[in-house]
Amino acid sequence: MLEHRIADITLAEAGRHQIRLAEREMPGLMSLREEYGDSQPLRGARIAGSLHMTVQTAVLIETLTALGADVRWASCNIFSTQDEAAAAVVVGAGTVEEPAGVPVFAWKGETLEEYWWCTDQIFRFPEGANLILDDGGDATMLVMEGADAEAAGGVPEPGENASAEARVFAARLRESLAEDAGRLTRIRDGLLGVSEETTTGVNRLYRLAEAGRLPFPAINVNDSVTKSKFDNRYGIRHSLPDGLNRATDALIGGKVALVIGYGDVGKGSAEALRGQGARVQIVEIDPICALQAAMDGYEVVDAQAAIGQADFVITTTGNTRVVDTDLLTRLKPGAIVGNVGHFDDEIDLAGLEKHSGVEIVEIKPQVHEWTIPVPAELGLDREETSFVVLSQGRLLNLGNATGHPSFVMSASFTNQVMAQLELFTNHDDYRPGVHRLSKVLDEKVARLHLPALGAHLTELTKEQAEYIGVDVAGPYKPEHYRY
Ligand code: NAI
Repeated sequence: MLEHRIADITLAEAGRHQIRLAEREMPGLMSLREEYGDSQPLRGARIAGSLHMTVQTAVLIETLTALGADVRWASCNIFSTQDEAAAAVVVGAGTVEEPAGVPVFAWKGETLEEYWWCTDQIFRFPEGANLILDDGGDATMLVMEGADAEAAGGVPEPGENASAEARVFAARLRESLAEDAGRLTRIRDGLLGVSEETTTGVNRLYRLAEAGRLPFPAINVNDSVTKSKFDNRYGIRHSLPDGLNRATDALIGGKVALVIGYGDVGKGSAEALRGQGARVQIVEIDPICALQAAMDGYEVVDAQAAIGQADFVITTTGNTRVVDTDLLTRLKPGAIVGNVGHFDDEIDLAGLEKHSGVEIVEIKPQVHEWTIPVPAELGLDREETSFVVLSQGRLLNLGNATGHPSFVMSASFTNQVMAQLELFTNHDDYRPGVHRLSKVLDEKVARLHLPALGAHLTELTKEQAEYIGVDVAGPYKPEHYRY
């Protein structure tokens, strides 16, 4: 029996129908299947994948297997799995009774313990994984910190103030060590590399590389132009209002929305909310992004002064505690609060939960009403406030909805497949460290998606190409160009 742990394998047919529809919207991935299906360049690749187990990811997984790879998969978030997609991927070309697809370990609503168990499962190929496809860096962290703990002969005790997540992670490592104290080291040493999907995971990789602790090449997929300038921005422009609507049905038009962070995700979030008629305000710490927000016509405000008037508060920074317990206490009664940055510590719900007098009511899964006392010294006209928290502070566009649309994920995942191809077939070209895909490949991803939108690309004449100093076939911009 094919190994797997998912919510309900009988959802496979429903998942398959959705995957078929998604394939029509994912031209980049489908053309890679056509280009490489016969030559099987990923034969021998054993890919441990940790990325939201959605319908779109199903098309990614089945593209990797169509190119010859062996794959095992977990989600990179406890709420983001679409159970029907997981079921369809497990069943593959087999049946519910005899599944013949890919081992998936993911379901919507995992506990933290289950989450790290699932992440551990993706490495359990009989011969070990040789590649990681990561989103946010948790799979890479498991191997790297696990190998460190094995070298040290034990797992460091989490400090007194360690988060629940850190404690559960330490417990997972301890279990792994007790089972086989050399397993994660062997996996680390057998890795050809990792391709990383998102800003937060990429930041972790650069930090490892700077500390001289990255023993294999990593490809920063996030900073392909056809990833972050599309997925992070246009993807969230679609999936943020989707999550807000499905979770609350609250009207957005006419309300005040406070967006914290004006990077790629913040820009898409602000645009979506303004598109719905909200009065959007921006909080930024970077003067360049703050100036961009102002020039785009948004009010740039101080969070402490503005938060009390906001009907929606959305964090998009990838930073920690940008909405701390003080800001939470100042929220307007009835406000809706959610995060679309990678981790759940952007909004300090864990800190707030420790305060006395906090009451939490589940309205429905991933929608909670918090009621908290308001200290008199804040000088507000109320003794308590009550607000709605989406997905417990985790990515609301995946927890309350189904994430970005297929078309934009096709661009991201075409970069992912190219990154895996590079790491596996051109491994010797990449020394340990963090790399980006070449501009030629970036432009290829865009090219693959233009016909589906009926877009006609103009070709440079030879004279024009010479005049601006590029090749007629590209790349068209220097590395320092910012788009
Ligand atoms: P980015 O680096 O372009 O933008 C983050 C912005 O937040 C920066 O402009 C930074 O100056 C600002 N910032 C940092 N600390 C702040 C603070 N305390 N107050 C106000 N602003 C602050 O990053 P990007 O690509 O926009 O990604 C942001 C987060 O979203 C990351 O965690 C990333 O992994 C995640 N992400 C989530 C997606 C989703 O589907 N929800 C999709 C893509 C990325």
